[in-house]
Amino acid sequence: MSEPRKILVTSALPYANGSIHLGHMLEYIQTDMWTRFQKHRGNQCIYVCADDAHGSAIMLRAEKEGITPEQLIANVQAEHSADFAEFLVDFDNFHSTHAEENRELSSQIYLKLRDAGHISTRSVTQYFDPEKKMFLADRFIKGTCPKCGTEDQYGDNCEKCGATYAPTDLKDPKSAISGATPVLRDSQHFFFKLPDFQQMLQTWTRSGTLQDAVANKLAEWLDSGLQEWDISRDAPYFGFEIPGEPGKYFYVWLDAPIGYMASFKNLCDRTPELDFDAFWAKDSTAEVYHFIGKDIVNFHALFWPAMLEGAGFRKPTGINVHGYLTVNGQKMSKSRGTFIKARTYLDHLSPEYLRYYYAAKLGRGVDDLDLNLEDFVQKVNSDLVGKVVNIASRCAGFIHKGNAGVLVAGNAAPELTDAFLAAAPSIADAYENRDFARAMREIMALADRANAWIADKAPWSLAKQEGKQDEVQAICALGINLFRQLVIFLKPVLPLLAADAEAFLNVAPLTWNDHQTLLSNHQLNEFKPLMTRIDATKVQAMIDASKEDLAASQTDTGGPSGNGELAKDPLSPEIDFDAFAAVDLRVALIVKAEAVEGADKLLRLTLDIGDEQRNVFSGIKSAYPDPAKLEGRLTMMIANLKPRKMRFGISEGMVMAAGPGGEEIYLLSPDSGAKPGQRIK
Ligand code: MSP
Ligand code: ZN
Repeated sequence: MSEPRKILVTSALPYANGSIHLGHMLEYIQTDMWTRFQKHRGNQCIYVCADDAHGSAIMLRAEKEGITPEQLIANVQAEHSADFAEFLVDFDNFHSTHAEENRELSSQIYLKLRDAGHISTRSVTQYFDPEKKMFLADRFIKGTCPKCGTEDQYGDNCEKCGATYAPTDLKDPKSAISGATPVLRDSQHFFFKLPDFQQMLQTWTRSGTLQDAVANKLAEWLDSGLQEWDISRDAPYFGFEIPGEPGKYFYVWLDAPIGYMASFKNLCDRTPELDFDAFWAKDSTAEVYHFIGKDIVNFHALFWPAMLEGAGFRKPTGINVHGYLTVNGQKMSKSRGTFIKARTYLDHLSPEYLRYYYAAKLGRGVDDLDLNLEDFVQKVNSDLVGKVVNIASRCAGFIHKGNAGVLVAGNAAPELTDAFLAAAPSIADAYENRDFARAMREIMALADRANAWIADKAPWSLAKQEGKQDEVQAICALGINLFRQLVIFLKPVLPLLAADAEAFLNVAPLTWNDHQTLLSNHQLNEFKPLMTRIDATKVQAMIDASKEDLAASQTDTGGPSGNGELAKDPLSPEIDFDAFAAVDLRVALIVKAEAVEGADKLLRLTLDIGDEQRNVFSGIKSAYPDPAKLEGRLTMMIANLKPRKMRFGISEGMVMAAGPGGEEIYLLSPDSGAKPGQRIK
């Protein structure tokens, strides 16, 4: 036997200002399955997480609710912990970033970076709310779009016309918090000198730590040169004060990843056999993996390794990035009832249905994963109930009736048990590589073979014949053994089913290596149904309840905020034909679509309009969180719009979209057959 590996695993720290939903669960379930697999195999594997408790959003929400931020984050932590526990996500520790360990580690890392010359300071001019006495992030400033004159637009782009701008371009700017007119003010900010780590990152991102697609994406940032990263915020801010800099706080994203270490430290401090340095010191031989969504790659694969390197710690072994969850092929939507909270799901359905469905669809790539609710019902019922549990329920009765619940010795089909044994390394390899979908396919193929064999032997017919009792017992004993093998393979995904099966099988908790043996001359316990079919009406009830959630939250806040809603449009003035003809409307092919660093709502689009390529910034990110999906798609653009210089570059046109904004923005497309560059008349 080789030495057990020492592995530390994390999931991204959920923000402490909102509920966990099924999109989040894709990450926590996935990480949990991988961690359980490692433990099942006998490795030392520690899974830590925490709530991400800092930042102005949390401070302001607490204020609105009339409680302290500490109370708010304690309430949310209790809610999150309960949701995770019920989904069988088995953290070794679930901590908070607002904790003493994190304050100490954040200060320590900052001071090491500073002393090594990796921190710079300079003055930054920003809008300041004179009533609230705080600086305003772009999303806390509203005003009139400088371009089209629509009121009540956010500080970085217009939801009506798509224009993007700096907050200082807004006409009649107002603080979204107090309503006061903001004033410009200078303040000293602290920057982490990311460019110092350009070389290291170039090598590290290509050293097998990242999926290829992620490394390629990062190469674009790396090739265009890294910028210094602003890591400070001015008081009032809910976070940690920067040592020696009164009134200056660490930006939430500085101390958030350090929260991984802090959660582990908190666990080490009360677990004598765990040694913090053995996992985090520069020369550590332990493995460290972060599971994250694709939206937070730059924080984990650029800033974080650079911080660790600069402060003298080891870097992660791997960053495992997953895509986004869609429901029924679309972004989760509150109005469609597909924005499903973890709690709402749990009110209606068993957690293992979702765990299995995610496993069955999760590959190692960064593609989005679709929860198709019809397919969900069909797949879970057919695989888990129809194939796996069915084997046990078909065989158990004969053993209890005919042999007092004792499995006879012997092996009625060595070719089958050999096939199960032979499949194990490949299933383990799939789990190890996070190709859960392949693991599930291979396990279900074994279940199909077992079922086919039992159907062929038909113990239920033999049982009616004279003198066939031994044969019936031999068949059913093997059936139960094959069921046991499947449970061993599925245990990381279905821990509750496994525990119930262990009770029925009358065995100690199963580990991976148990698949190498068979039970013989073994007393079973009473058989109880292990899993029931999903009732489709429960799924509908969950959707309905999610819609009610939405209705409730709208009465709380007095209705949707309604930016750019069509119903509020002023009547458009008439224009003459010449004005229309002056607009150069073209069919455009989206060659490339990517998020813009530092802009919450913008995508950078590279458009092919036949004879040339255009660079266009468009405020549609909220509806297209996975911009790569737009690539290859046709849309329509205004090609003769005067180029606009923006903070991020020059925008050379505008694409056309409909909808109220937010998640509901619909990019227009021509019928198929249209060619890039064709004029729209
Ligand atoms: N607080 C930060 C992470 C800090 S880690 C040092 C954060 N929090 S989050 O609550 O917004 O997201 C937590 C994790 O859930 C992230 O990895 C994010 O990508 C993931 N997901 C959030 N919504 C998701 C989907 N709809 N689908 C899949 N994953 C999603 O980011
Ligand atoms: Zn506008």
